[in-house]
Amino acid sequence: MEIDLMILVPLVAILGIIYHYLTKGNKYFHEKPIPSLATEPLFGSTRRLLLKQTAFTDFVINIYNKYPLVKVFGMIDTVTPMFVVRDPELIKKITVKDFEYFMNHRPVFGNNDDPHNTALFGKTLVSLNDQRWRDMRATLSPAFTGSKMRQMFELIVECSNNMAQYYKEQIRKNGVGSQEHEMKDVFTRYANDVIATCAFGIKVDSFKNTENDFYVNGKKMMAFNRPVVMFRMLGFRIMPKLMSKFNLDLFDREQRDFFSEIIKDTVRTRDANGIVRPDMVHLLMQARKGALKHQRETEEREEVKGFATVEESEVGQAQASKGLHHDPQYYPNPSKFDPERFSEENREKINPSTYLPFGIGPRNCIGSRFALMEVKAIVYYMLREFSFERTPNTQVPLRLAKGFAGMRSEKGVFVEFRPRKQTAH
Ligand code: HEM
Repeated sequence: MEIDLMILVPLVAILGIIYHYLTKGNKYFHEKPIPSLATEPLFGSTRRLLLKQTAFTDFVINIYNKYPLVKVFGMIDTVTPMFVVRDPELIKKITVKDFEYFMNHRPVFGNNDDPHNTALFGKTLVSLNDQRWRDMRATLSPAFTGSKMRQMFELIVECSNNMAQYYKEQIRKNGVGSQEHEMKDVFTRYANDVIATCAFGIKVDSFKNTENDFYVNGKKMMAFNRPVVMFRMLGFRIMPKLMSKFNLDLFDREQRDFFSEIIKDTVRTRDANGIVRPDMVHLLMQARKGALKHQRETEEREEVKGFATVEESEVGQAQASKGLHHDPQYYPNPSKFDPERFSEENREKINPSTYLPFGIGPRNCIGSRFALMEVKAIVYYMLREFSFERTPNTQVPLRLAKGFAGMRSEKGVFVEFRPRKQTAH
């Protein structure tokens, strides 16, 4: 076979350049006075994760535990050198005191510095950098205060009650004493209905209409373990600028258009007809007009400090929170389900810098109050109506799915719902 050198030489040169580009970061920590994880060409320190040999959470806990005596260590996240901070005081310093220098997030949805980023989340808080982030956060913060969130409580209660009643009715209709359900499916449907009503201003019932458009599109959008999405994710990690240049998005165009159209439609109808509904669309329309700026309640400052409402600008953002949460020096017997750790008496013993589910500091989760309200409502309505039992399908102990699947169990979470006996009032 004749080999055409005119093709072979440039091809080898191109492959060599790509290889060099993808591995050049691997030596980054060699000269640094901190330990670092072993690296492999093209995988950095994340082979086990990329090849789906470990769950994301287990991966973080595992690397956190590798260097128990250091405050910070290095790793190569595919191709990018990363400092992993495991010391709570240092995390606080970086994310609060020195926030100015560490303000920006890594790009997930394209080039964060590009004002023309067309990705679905390209112009949201999660993606914006520097002054553009500051301005957007200042505009949105008044819409996410505790009292603003509470205005949506009724909508959340409606979804919670609807779900509990649906499952109760199913048991009654089928003439059985109890019924098994998979909790990821149950909560996905619930969260879907809550997001639809609170964030998009439309009502859907994903229990009765199991395949409604909102649910189907939402589910497809969140299916991060599809090969095409994983490929795009990798693209954004390796070459975010190039991905943005070609207008590529993590999400499919179909979903991008579906959700954008709903919002545009809702805003148009409300503007045209002066409709006011107590939901996020209304709050964000108000925030856009600057109408909430002067309503920043002082009550927020007085709200319960600590886990639920980390005060903005007071503390910073975590890098290895899963590791901290499973560190026995902060949480004795960390794998034990022990809600008493967070009781009134015990919560004082927890150093707030070691409890970071919503991040900390000026860039913490803006939706934490909403998220907690949503979770508390559903837990209340479920416990009120049902007791829960293990079934032959319940995986014990529960194991997390491997790879970048997010927080997902390996085999589902199967639970038997048994209606509680009605007590006379
Ligand atoms: C249990 C549910 C949730 C958890 C555990 C969670 C956790 C987080 C975490 C860890 C961050 C990153 C903070 C950092 O970089 O330090 C974050 C950011 C963010 N979250 Fe959440 N979140 C939740 C629900 C929500 C909800 C319901 C919303 C919207 C209503 C939301 C909106 C945001 C936004 C916009 C950011 C970016 C904030 C910024 O960059 O300024 N989150 N969240």
